[in-house]
Formats: sequence, structure tokens, C-alpha cells
Amino acid sequence: MRTLTVIVFAAAVTTLQISAVIGDAIVNGRKASKNTFQYMASVQVNKTHECGGFLISPKYVLTAAHCDTRGHMTVVLGDHDINQRRNLQRYEVARKFKLKPFTSVIEGNDIMLLKLDRKAVLGKKLKTVDIIDERRRVKSGTECLVAGWGKTKESDTEGVNELQAVKVSTVDIDECKKAWRKKYKKIKTLPPNIICAGGYKQNTGACKGDSGGPLVCNSVVVGIVSFRSSTCKYPDVPNVYTDISKYSRWIRAMMNERET
Ligand SMILES: *[C@@H]1O[C@H](CO)[C@@H](O)[C@H](O)[C@H]1NC(C)=O
Repeated sequence: MRTLTVIVFAAAVTTLQISAVIGDAIVNGRKASKNTFQYMASVQVNKTHECGGFLISPKYVLTAAHCDTRGHMTVVLGDHDINQRRNLQRYEVARKFKLKPFTSVIEGNDIMLLKLDRKAVLGKKLKTVDIIDERRRVKSGTECLVAGWGKTKESDTEGVNELQAVKVSTVDIDECKKAWRKKYKKIKTLPPNIICAGGYKQNTGACKGDSGGPLVCNSVVVGIVSFRSSTCKYPDVPNVYTDISKYSRWIRAMMNERET
């Protein structure tokens, strides 16, 4: 798994390093139970796990834009165990939708919709999940879950085969910005349309390889794992997620777009 390191140029001279939770793994989590997260997707590049994602309709998977790295992208669905030797349900990506100006996680718009080459056949091991709509907000302090195949600590060399999940609480946006500014003096502002959760005042959070995965509150996905500071040693600054409610209209519009 690769870590995306984002260099932020704040003031002309200072650089700051942030790691996108590309494939960021779950820290202090546990194996996800078989009858949960059946909508979880492993977004793979050259048949290697790169990022998490989740199935929102039989043909569409949502993930993070920064997961779009060079190579052949496929999506594995329907299993918590992504050991390569197994006979996995692998889908080709027919189309990728991103918001036009995606440049880096710190600029925001870290969201990507993948259209699969064929409809996934839903069943006991494969389900779709609802995403939050534009009229709703998550309150700070809400207990949610994040899942992924990422590293379980920063020093691990790779992620895990068995899906991990952990509880995280959402953090007030102003408190989140303050915590980031305090740790990284040069950060003037975090991107718009984000939710902060986990990694802060608690020892759980996302790590490398978890990027693109879902933040699930009350059975609805509200966020996409986007970035964290360079360490997965929690508590630290809060992990940052893309706020799906701000993009739900865009998602619907892309899903309704006719084939050309
Ligand atoms: C995937 O393979 C292609 C062609 O060999 C290579 O250019 C690319 O860097 C690889 N991508 C990753 C993420 O390893």
C-alpha cells in the first residue's frame, strides 16, 4: 500500500507533510463481524489493495479521489477477506467520476464515484448502503464506525487481509480546525466540506490503506476517509473525512447520467 504524502505550501517557505489515509489502516480496531459492512469494497490497483470504498447501488462504488493512482483499477466486492489466493468477485471500472478541480486532499473534493462494468449481484454477503442526503447533518460527538483493510499501526509494512472496524466519535469542526492549527502552525484552514472524527482524544482511528472507506453513523455512510496527520499514533489530531451530504446531489446526478 502506498501513502500519499501531501505537501502543503503555507507561506512561501514552510512545507508541511500530511498523509492521506491512502489505504490508511484501522488503529486499535477489531475484525469486522461477517454480517456487517457487506457493502465494503476494496479498490485495487494492479490487483493490490489501494483503498477502501463502499457499494451505494449495484453498479456504483464511492471512494476517495486521491485513490486514483496510476495503474489498472478494479474493485473487489462481497468478502471481508481479500487474500489474493481466494476466488474474489472482481469488477472492472467502466467509468470514474471526480469533481473537476481535485488537486490534493488539503484542497478538498476528495471524492470519486466508480461505475462498475456490470451490476453486482446482491445477497447475504453483498449489500448496498445508504448515504446521507443533503438535508441532514451529523452532530459532533456522534459515535460512528470506520472500516478498512489498512495498516493497524504506522510501522506495519502493509495492510491486513481481514476487514477491521473501529468506533470513532465525530469532533466539532471548529475544535478540529483548532487542533490541526495547533499541531501544524502553518495550516490556516482545512478544506471545506469535511467531517472530523476519531484519532483525537481517543486511541482509535484510521491509518494507511483505509482511505476511501466509509464513516458510518447510525447505519448511514456520512463520510469518506480522506487524510490524517503523518502518524497513526492516537490520540493525535482528528482524522478528516469528506462530508458526503455536501456531494449527494452531485452523486445522484452522475448516477443518472446517460451513457454516451
Ligand atoms: C501498475 O502497473 C503499471 C504498469 O506496469 C505501472 O506503471 C504502475 O505504476 C503500477 N501502479 C501501481 C500503483 O503499482
